[in-house]
Amino acid sequence: MLAIVATILYAAFAKLSLKAYKEQSQKLKYLEELKESQRNIIQKFSEISEAKSGETGQHIKRVSEYSAILAAKCGLSENEVEMISTASMMHDVGKLLIPREIIEKPGVLLTR
Ligand SMILES: [Fe+2]
Repeated sequence: MLAIVATILYAAFAKLSLKAYKEQSQKLKYLEELKESQRNIIQKFSEISEAKSGETGQHIKRVSEYSAILAAKCGLSENEVEMISTASMMHDVGKLLIPREIIEKPGVLLTR
């Protein structure tokens, strides 16, 4: 009798564990999709600012890769390296609000 109860309890526990595992896996999958979506949005914003500033087209990608390399060399975690890589793509986004004449002006902006 005790063996039957133990088997039933074990089966119920295993079923709950499997359900919790599946739910956790689904949450992790959603989080990964959210991270990828955020990175894509940031990349698109960055590409728009890059296009406005007349950069060569690979500037954002290069800065992101260099930032990741430096972050890794500094001993940051894989997650931190990824965040820095993504955030670095935003470094020129402020150019979106600066008039093109100023961005493309050759030479210095102010003289004394
Ligand atoms: Fe830049």
